[in-house]
Amino acid sequence: MYDLPGYLAMMHDPVRVPAYRSALEQSVRPGDVVLDLGSGSGILSFFALACSAAHVYAIDTNPLVDIVRQLAARHGLSRRLTVVEGDARVLDLPPADVIVSDLRGALPLYRDGIDVVDKIRRRCLKPGGRMLPLADDIFVAPVACPGAHALVAGWRARWADVDYATVTRQAAQTVQKHALRAEQLLAPGQVAFRLDYLAPARTLEGTLHIEFSRPGFWDGLGAWFEATLSPGVRFSTAPEGPPTVYCQAVLPLYETIAVQAGDRAVVRVRVYGVLEGPIWLWSVQLERAARLIAHEEHATPSGTPISAQDVKCRRPDYTPPAYQEAAVDREILNLVDGQRTTGEIARHMAACFPERFGRWEAALGRVGAVVSRYRRGAA
Ligand SMILES: C[S@@+](CC[C@H](N)C(=O)[O-])C[C@H]1O[C@@H](n2cnc3c(N)ncnc32)[C@H](O)[C@@H]1O
Repeated sequence: MYDLPGYLAMMHDPVRVPAYRSALEQSVRPGDVVLDLGSGSGILSFFALACSAAHVYAIDTNPLVDIVRQLAARHGLSRRLTVVEGDARVLDLPPADVIVSDLRGALPLYRDGIDVVDKIRRRCLKPGGRMLPLADDIFVAPVACPGAHALVAGWRARWADVDYATVTRQAAQTVQKHALRAEQLLAPGQVAFRLDYLAPARTLEGTLHIEFSRPGFWDGLGAWFEATLSPGVRFSTAPEGPPTVYCQAVLPLYETIAVQAGDRAVVRVRVYGVLEGPIWLWSVQLERAARLIAHEEHATPSGTPISAQDVKCRRPDYTPPAYQEAAVDREILNLVDGQRTTGEIARHMAACFPERFGRWEAALGRVGAVVSRYRRGAA
C-alpha cells in the first residue's frame, strides 16, 4: 500500500506531473464529471477541478485518501469533490465524461491495475467520454545492470554449510525495478507491444531482433514505457530521458553474458493475464557469426511457487477442518443485515464466544475488521 513518501514522490515527478496536467487541460471541459481512479494525494483530482470540471470523484482503496477530503474542505471545494474510499470495481460510481488514472508500477502492467481501469471504463465512461491514459508503448532493450545480476548471483552463497546456489534459478524469474542510465543500454530500445486502455488485450507479446551496438556485459532486458495520455500529450520513462518516479524494469538473465558489437539476439517477451495480474515470460537467443551462443527461457510463475498447502485447499476432494475463526466470521456476517449496529453485533459475539472475546468491547475490533473488508470491496 502507498504511503505519504510514495505519494510525495509521484507528486513531484517533473516528467509525469506536467504531462498529466496538460492532458487534463486538453480533455476536461467545463461541466464534466471526472473519475480519478486511484487518486492517492488527489493531485489529478485538483487539476481536473482547476480545468472547470463540475464534479470530481477521488477514489482510492487507501485510507490516506482522507487527506484529499481535508484539502477539499479547506479550499472550499467539497461541493465539487467527492472522496470515496474503496476498490473502484465494487463501488457505485456515476457515468463520467473523463476517467483518469495512473495505476502503474515501474511498468503499466502492474498487479490488477488494468482490470480496474477496464471495468470502470466499460461501466462508467459516457459515449464520447475521454480516457487518460489512452495507451502505453512498452520498450525493451538489452542492458548492462550489475544491480540486476547481483539480485540473482547473490544467492550463490554458502552459510553454515548450506549452499544457496540453486535459488539463483528462482531469483532470475522476477521482474525487478532499477534506475537505468542511457550508458547501460547495449542496443537501442524497441517497442515490444502496446497497451491500449480503450481495448486492452489479455495477452501482449513482441519479438525483437536486436543487434548489439557496443561491447559490454549483458545482464538482462531493460523495459520502460512511453505513455500517450491524450492525443498529442506523451511522456517517456526511457533511460535516455530525465529520471522519473517509475524508474525502469529489468527482466534478468541467469548469467552475465559478454557481448560484442554486431552480435545479434532474438528476444521474445510475452505477458499473460494482463487484466488479472501479469505473468511475464521472456526468452533470449544470442548469436555470434551465425552460431548460437546462449539460449534462456524465463517465466515469473517459476519465481513465486504456489504453496503446496494452498494447492491442496483447491482440490475438490479436500475437506477443510472446522476452523473456530471461520465460525466467528460466519456469525458476524450472519448478523450484518443492514439493521444491527456494530455494538449490537459485538455484544452478540461476546455472548456466543465468551472464551474467545470475554467482554463485548473485545469483539468490537473483530466486527469492525470484517465489516471494513466488505466496505472496501477487498474481501
Ligand atoms: C500510483 S498511485 C497514483 C496516485 C495519484 N493518482 C497520482 O497520480 O499521484 C496509485 C493509487 O491507486 C490506488 N488503487 C490501486 N488499486 C485501486 C482500486 N482497485 N481502486 C481504487 N484505488 C486503487 C492505490 O491505493 C494508489 O493510491
